[in-house]
Amino acid sequence: MAVIISGKEVSAKVRAEVKEACEQLKAKGVNPGLAVIIVGDDPASRVYVNNKKKACAEVGFLSEEYALPAETTQEELLELIDRLNKREDIDGILCQLPLPKHLDEKAVINAISPLKDVDAFHPSNVGKIMIGDYDFLPCTPAGVMEMIHFAGIEVSGKNCVVIGRSNIVGKPMAMLLLHENGTVTICHSRTKNLKEVCSAADILVAAVGKPKFVKADMVKEGAVVLDVGINRDENGKLCGDVDFAEVEPKAAYITPVPGGVGPMTIAMLMKNTLKAAQNRA
Ligand code: GUN
Repeated sequence: MAVIISGKEVSAKVRAEVKEACEQLKAKGVNPGLAVIIVGDDPASRVYVNNKKKACAEVGFLSEEYALPAETTQEELLELIDRLNKREDIDGILCQLPLPKHLDEKAVINAISPLKDVDAFHPSNVGKIMIGDYDFLPCTPAGVMEMIHFAGIEVSGKNCVVIGRSNIVGKPMAMLLLHENGTVTICHSRTKNLKEVCSAADILVAAVGKPKFVKADMVKEGAVVLDVGINRDENGKLCGDVDFAEVEPKAAYITPVPGGVGPMTIAMLMKNTLKAAQNRA
């Protein structure tokens, strides 16, 4: 039987800390502000953006939503970002991804001021993550680390395996584990002997994007299993990248889906926005 690390519990603690720090900032006359841009009508993006706005209200931040039509041009989007970059009262700018196909995601990420890049997607912030000298932590990997710390798990000297090499999750996740002296392996679609590599992990992070991909025979007895996936199973029910029913009896610690890493991502976004506002103050 594994200990279940609850993202609801850990994220509530982070949000409470942010709320308190926000009150202190407001007493000094600085009100943290986050601008959230959404282009088009992707239903998943709409849910994420609503949750981000709700979290802002809860911790006491100002939030502004810019819901732009799917036909928005690159120029219009870059103009909006330029205006938000110049706004004194906006500390964080977030453009929800994915963008409609005709828009250049890379150019949009590059246009957001690194000082307001609370997603930590800008190349200059990505470089800082590599060096280990960061203002903004990448939200999802930082949420995973927060859960590891909360559970009192030591990373130093452990075999850490990250499945997935995306710029948003897999790569920065590996860096954060490395900064805490884990021995880190990144696996991906071309990895040979995936089962063997994963079975050697003391700490296994699944960020594949495939429902119930990680089975019991890929997990070592007593491993820590962190599930970044948000998928739908064959019955349309939310599930992670880990087959929870199979893996849970074998793991020492595991995160559930829903109620695991998902709520952490937004809590860490709040933390980054707070950091940006503290830098302004
Ligand atoms: N789309 C999926 N995850 C994210 C995220 O963390 N930030 C942004 N901006 N878009 C996303």
